[in-house]
Amino acid sequence: MSPETTRQVSALIDRIQTRFHEGHRQALPQLQAMAAMVEARGIDDGVVASLRTIGNALEQHMFKEEMRLFPMMEQGGNTLIGLLIEDLHREHVAHENAMDDLRARLGMLTEAHGTDLTLQQLIRALDDLANELALHIRAEDEELFPLFARPASPDSSSTFNPWSPATTTS
Ligand SMILES: [Fe+2]
Ligand SMILES: [Fe+2]
Repeated sequence: MSPETTRQVSALIDRIQTRFHEGHRQALPQLQAMAAMVEARGIDDGVVASLRTIGNALEQHMFKEEMRLFPMMEQGGNTLIGLLIEDLHREHVAHENAMDDLRARLGMLTEAHGTDLTLQQLIRALDDLANELALHIRAEDEELFPLFARPASPDSSSTFNPWSPATTTS
């Protein structure tokens, strides 16, 4: 990996951790508190649990990146990195789907409780988190991961490219 790419990787990882990972970790407890207030007002009784599931999945995902993926990348990558990237990319899709489901569910609640300020606040905060998550995922899927998508060694047995929809791993 060229020194320029190494610098690019470090800067990207730094930005992702500072803005997105830390940002999500600050936002999630605040959202949990708002969701608990919404439930306490008798509006829906599954928002807290859904949000906890999303938060736990996100935390596990970010932990995996911080403990395994980012250190691997900072060392220049290796032949197994494509599989890890593929796994993390699949998790990105799952996070976005879970977030869409929760937002749809809250959207339906507004039909009966549209004037509730606590619910409106929760919906706005969740929209903010969803926007940050989308930018986070884009930074990884479109900027960071492609720097490592192909094996560095030309004689590697792995030709997997997670960015090509026509490629299969079997
Ligand atoms: Fe991340
Ligand atoms: Fe990620």
